[in-house]
Amino acid sequence: MLDAKPDADATATQGEALLEVNNIEVIYNHVILVLKGVSLSVPKGGITALLGGNGAGKSTTLKSISNLLRSERGEVTKGSILYRGQRIQDLTPADLVEKGVIQVMEGRHCFEHLTVEENLLTGAYTRRDGGRATKDDLEMVYEYFPRLKERRASQAGYTSGGEQQMCAIGRALMSRPETILLDEPSMGLAPQLVEQIFGIVKRLNEEQGVTFLLAEQNTNVALRFAHHGYILESGRIVMEGPAAELRENPDVKEFYLGMSEEGRKSFRDVRSYRRRKRWLS
Ligand SMILES: Nc1ncnc2c1ncn2[C@@H]1O[C@H](COP(=O)(O)OP(=O)(O)OP(=O)(O)O)[C@@H](O)[C@H]1O
Ligand SMILES: [Mg+2]
Repeated sequence: MLDAKPDADATATQGEALLEVNNIEVIYNHVILVLKGVSLSVPKGGITALLGGNGAGKSTTLKSISNLLRSERGEVTKGSILYRGQRIQDLTPADLVEKGVIQVMEGRHCFEHLTVEENLLTGAYTRRDGGRATKDDLEMVYEYFPRLKERRASQAGYTSGGEQQMCAIGRALMSRPETILLDEPSMGLAPQLVEQIFGIVKRLNEEQGVTFLLAEQNTNVALRFAHHGYILESGRIVMEGPAAELRENPDVKEFYLGMSEEGRKSFRDVRSYRRRKRWLS
């Protein structure tokens, strides 16, 4: 198993840490402890993946960063979250967008009754640089997502799941973000479409310099496109490292990539296996 402490060397090769989450604890409804000391570092210009199964705490981590917990009766009770070295815990989600951080929520939220193009334009609401820039950005979004251009006049509620995911990412791009927190982009999509969306994320990262922190259950795809990965289990980071190393790690192969001899194991099996391993050692 890899060390769960941040790997300073790997982070350094990918630029300064833009976002730092230091040992945060999150409690819902004053009693339910969900994150139990999560730390991670997101380097500027990188794609960082936060991996783990159902209920591991991925969305909670992203919502802690973007300050969307309060509306769900959740609270960061310990630790700190820094962006460019400044605490961001007291900012509103709108303040954060102005700082360059935007979240694309799980479940691709679009305004169903608006057209695709109207949805995209709502993403530009914090912009102060005028109509011309907004129009250019709309063209930029259409260049990355030609499908959205074709569907620009359709009501978003009637577009496919893949198109809605593209619309949600496109809307985030309209605020010209420096960092996108992308929650479960693969959810409910066919493999080919998942590849396509991750391919666009990679291009946005390389060509526009957008930094990504993405939460994913789909370890396989995420580790092929990300530079660095963290694996979360029951509210704790249990492994972290460069994506290429995680892909080759025997535990990751066995438990998260379903490449064991006996076939894919469930997370419950993983836990009992770990217990067994501890007993035996
Ligand atoms: N508003 C809430 N109130 C109480 N508990 C919550 C709330 N939101 C999430 N939880 C609990 O926190 C834990 C982590 O949930 P979270 O949504 O962060 O997991 P996740 O890793 O994103 O899972 P998934 O892959 O299914 O989206 C779960 O046990 C969940 O039931
Ligand atoms: Mg989630």
